[in-house]
Amino acid sequence: MLLKTTLPFQEQGHERMPVLPHHRGLKHLKFVAQSLGLLGFSFLTVCFVFLFGYYYGDRGNDGAVAGGLFRYPARMESLVWLNLKLNGSHDVERVDFLWEEGDGCDVFEGDWVWDDSYPLYRSRDCRLLDQGFRCSENGRPDDFYTKWRWQPRGCNLPRFDARLMLEKLRNKRLVFVGDSIGRNQWESLLCMLSTGVSDKASIYEVNGRPITKHKGYLVFKFGEFNCTVEYYRAPFLVLQSRPPVGSPGEIKTTLKLDQMDWTSRKWKDADVLIFNTGHWWNYEKTIRGGCYFQEGAEVKVEMRAEHAYQRAIETVMHWIRNEVNSSKTRIFFRTFSPVHFRGGDWRTGSCHLETLPELGSSLVPSENWLQYKIITDTLAVHSNTSEPIEVNILNITHMSSRRKDGHSSLYYLSPHMGPASIRRQDCSHWCLPGVPDSWNELLFALYLKHESSQLSKSPVHVAPK
Ligand SMILES: *[C@@H]1O[C@H](CO)[C@@H](O)[C@H](O)[C@H]1NC(C)=O
Ligand SMILES: *[C@@H]1O[C@H](CO)[C@@H](O)[C@H](O)[C@H]1NC(C)=O
Ligand SMILES: *[C@@H]1O[C@H](CO)[C@@H](O)[C@H](O)[C@H]1NC(C)=O
Ligand SMILES: *[C@@H]1O[C@H](CO)[C@@H](O)[C@H](O)[C@H]1NC(C)=O
Ligand SMILES: *[C@@H]1O[C@H](CO)[C@@H](O)[C@H](O)[C@H]1NC(C)=O
Repeated sequence: MLLKTTLPFQEQGHERMPVLPHHRGLKHLKFVAQSLGLLGFSFLTVCFVFLFGYYYGDRGNDGAVAGGLFRYPARMESLVWLNLKLNGSHDVERVDFLWEEGDGCDVFEGDWVWDDSYPLYRSRDCRLLDQGFRCSENGRPDDFYTKWRWQPRGCNLPRFDARLMLEKLRNKRLVFVGDSIGRNQWESLLCMLSTGVSDKASIYEVNGRPITKHKGYLVFKFGEFNCTVEYYRAPFLVLQSRPPVGSPGEIKTTLKLDQMDWTSRKWKDADVLIFNTGHWWNYEKTIRGGCYFQEGAEVKVEMRAEHAYQRAIETVMHWIRNEVNSSKTRIFFRTFSPVHFRGGDWRTGSCHLETLPELGSSLVPSENWLQYKIITDTLAVHSNTSEPIEVNILNITHMSSRRKDGHSSLYYLSPHMGPASIRRQDCSHWCLPGVPDSWNELLFALYLKHESSQLSKSPVHVAPK
């Protein structure tokens, strides 16, 4: 359970540590002081002292003595990196993404920057959250993970404005379809939007269902705006149902790779559709449990999960092309949300005690995630035709891969159950407030950008950051 960070200096931690606090350290601290202002600087200092205490404090609890020795210098490097970043971003004048000059800005290319005005909401003020995402309430001691804002390299994003977004969604339906990470993002958006509504009782589930985990769908209405923000659980996007009659006993269900999930008729007419899939397309979650792949009437016993995944994405693209009214429905496809089971998988990997993002450049390219590559490759093919389909890509894989600090880790159980066992970490879902809020800020920005390009090419007026 030793924590591996990917900072390149880690192995030399012993040698580098004495160098920093002495002659190099002071110089860096001065830079931070200049660029952050005194207030921000004192805050960082407090954070730093806290970090120091935290790492020394926890070593007693989990017995990670050997890891502890390496951990401290690794954090130190991160903080040095952080101040270079802050200093660096100081002297760049960026245009606003929503302005015409912001056209073509790749908002998914950028950095995580510390922003004291974050988070956008507090979990204890938002009743529209599963217990599993309420990390702070479930005992997570640090809250750094709530303080990072996504800063695109080439432009500034508009600050999230709940009322403006709700106004844009008036009389509309916004729908998330996908797996539990889609649900993670959906609940994030519910909380972000509800900050713009004073009468919280005017937000309700139309069928009176509670938000707690279950397998169906949930439709939340914002009464004042007559809009709904909905979630449909469809982890594969395509139909999972009984196998053909007479199939061998080990085939318990099949995924019909050429048919959409049965709920698709419910969301086909939505105004905004946000898809995601990926985490279930593997052997463990399909064939091992007796779920095989089927095309037409034929069960393809030999087909591998990756190939089936690609076939399913093709089906979604055909469905979009043939079934969706593109002048009504805006479609987003959110790319794979990376996991951080360092040194293992669901049973053995670890993200516990990660408190800082990857601020260095030692990054795994997104292409290494097969689930990312399959989606982007398939989308690229469908956009490169004489009649391209209009799908907006929420390209969050790369930015989120730097947020090993953002996962639920041990803190997905209710306060009275206490933190989970170190052997049952969740390094796949995200704490809220947290990383999915940034995905929704990007969604907001792309949505407004589209509106402003539709409306006589004049920019929407939103307070810049
Ligand atoms: C920080 O910014 C100042 C002024 O813009 C610049 O002179 C200095 O070189 C920068 N320092 C680093 C380490 O980037
Ligand atoms: C997604 O973003 C990453 C990082 O900016 C970039 O390397 C990649 O090309 C992007 N992919 C697509 C399909 O836009
Ligand atoms: C509320 O929104 C729905 C679409 O979601 C629309 O059909 C209906 O007419 C709207 N109601 C009012 C009163 O505007
Ligand atoms: C598609 O949507 C537009 C805008 O809502 C509407 O005017 C049009 O009638 C729709 N087309 C079809 C075929 O339903
Ligand atoms: C787009 O299609 C053309 C012709 O079909 C092909 O030559 C080109 O390589 C394709 N581009 C991409 C990015 O797939």
